[in-house]
Amino acid sequence: MLTPSTTPHPPDLSPRQVHISVRELTMAYDDFMVQKDMDFDVLRGEIFIIMGASGCGKSTLLRHLIGLKPPVTGEVFFDGQNLWKLPPKERQSMLLKMGILYQSGALWSSMTLAENIALPLTAHTPLSAKEIADLVSLKLALVGLSGFESFYPAEISGGMQKRAALARALALDPEILLFDEPSAGLDPISARRLDRLIVHLSESLGITAVIVTHDLASLLDIGTNSVFLDTETKTIIAKGPPDMLLRTSTHPTVKEFLTRGQSKRTATSAREASR
Ligand SMILES: Nc1ncnc2c1ncn2[C@@H]1O[C@H](COP(=O)(O)OP(=O)(O)O)[C@@H](O)[C@H]1O
Ligand SMILES: [Mg+2]
Repeated sequence: MLTPSTTPHPPDLSPRQVHISVRELTMAYDDFMVQKDMDFDVLRGEIFIIMGASGCGKSTLLRHLIGLKPPVTGEVFFDGQNLWKLPPKERQSMLLKMGILYQSGALWSSMTLAENIALPLTAHTPLSAKEIADLVSLKLALVGLSGFESFYPAEISGGMQKRAALARALALDPEILLFDEPSAGLDPISARRLDRLIVHLSESLGITAVIVTHDLASLLDIGTNSVFLDTETKTIIAKGPPDMLLRTSTHPTVKEFLTRGQSKRTATSAREASR
């Protein structure tokens, strides 16, 4: 007969390490509260999606993760270290482990791709010009832009600009890459190519990716986990792999977002067809 075990569970020999933890985070601009009571973990190597309607606070959450905005209350941990309780110098070196890709890409238009990518290396490493040039070429190769060193951003396509910005975000070998709407303004083919690149970086380099995106095809395809920020209740109303949420969430707001209203339209056309 089976009896309840009183011995503790054996340790999991291959636990996936928690990389980022957010605990009871409340975010606000002065008196305007954006989101409250946010709790979630991002595991190492995950492709973690932040979803929600426009204005719900996704970019604001990224600002808290990259040390640009301190929490009103709550904590942000990286590898168990409390970001906002660290002395400024240690916080700075922790933040250097993150690469950020902003919505606009934000390459310097008056600089070549090589000069753009060299910037963080010149600022934060003691490497020689030759070593930096070699690293720049390596990073460009990583994003499929070998040979484009001397091009200016205006001379390449939008998709290539995004990948060049990604090469710059990779310059200092980050452990975490954060993206704010990476496929905004890209055609579907360039957007899918960027997706594959993110998956490749996550699998080959073990990088943890945190992505704010509206792009359904993308988040359902590459997201391994997610949170959904709700504008109404001002907190997280769903967590889990996006494809699982699509299949199982019964929350109308989440369903509406993940089907882009298609479930509603299908219901309407079914009603119309039955008339
Ligand atoms: N610098 C700011 N000062 C005051 N309010 C802001 C600021 N930035 C964003 N907000 C407000 O905070 C809310 C969340 O903004 P944001 O994080 O940019 O949303 P999302 O990225 O989800 O579209 C919005 O209502 C926005 O108007
Ligand atoms: Mg935003």
